[in-house]
Amino acid sequence: MNVLVLIGSLRAGSTNRQLADVAIAALPSDVDVIVWDELADLPHYNEDLDGEDVPALAAAFRRRVAEADALILVTPEYNGTLPGALKNAIDWASRPRKSASIAGMPVAVMGASGSPRAAQWGRDDAVRALKVAGASPLETTVGIGSAWSAFEDGTLKDADQREAVADLVAELVGAKRQRDAA
Ligand SMILES: Cc1cc2nc3c(=O)[nH]c(=O)nc-3n(C[C@H](O)[C@H](O)[C@H](O)COP(=O)(O)O)c2cc1C
Repeated sequence: MNVLVLIGSLRAGSTNRQLADVAIAALPSDVDVIVWDELADLPHYNEDLDGEDVPALAAAFRRRVAEADALILVTPEYNGTLPGALKNAIDWASRPRKSASIAGMPVAVMGASGSPRAAQWGRDDAVRALKVAGASPLETTVGIGSAWSAFEDGTLKDADQREAVADLVAELVGAKRQRDAA
């Protein structure tokens, strides 16, 4: 199984990157994981560029998504929604509409924010955009609030939060197996 991880915060020291690391550590050991670290360089989606000569990085991103069996999308909340870099990636993966690389893709959404609201709006908007894009995001998402003090020694301090991340990741792996069996 191949899992592609997208992290919506581009900054070094990101709490969302730490959350992604916790999720990756919870995956079964036989899962291959790629963290796609080129979101910052992905051109803004533009229908005029989306013809015969798609920008090389956008084409590479679509191939990565198509090769994945599932996605983990880790999003901060910026001004009450998901960051533009992540939304842009969803937009590229949603086209061409009839052969979109993201169609039917199981996605686990999680997010960390500095506020106690735990990126709820960012997570909700990510799920909505993914559904409209044709993906199959899990209904459950995991949010980590007050994120600046939530991590220690490369993991979440709170055992319930660690369990919630592990449960979500297990649900994602299960969703992929169900999809294979269908
Ligand atoms: C442009 C901008 C907008 C933000 N808007 C929100 C917001 O709407 N809700 C929220 O909880 N935090 C907001 N924050 C604070 C982020 O939750 C905080 O910076 C968080 O640490 C970002 O995730 P990161 O640690 O992975 O970079 C915002 C931060 C930035 C830079």
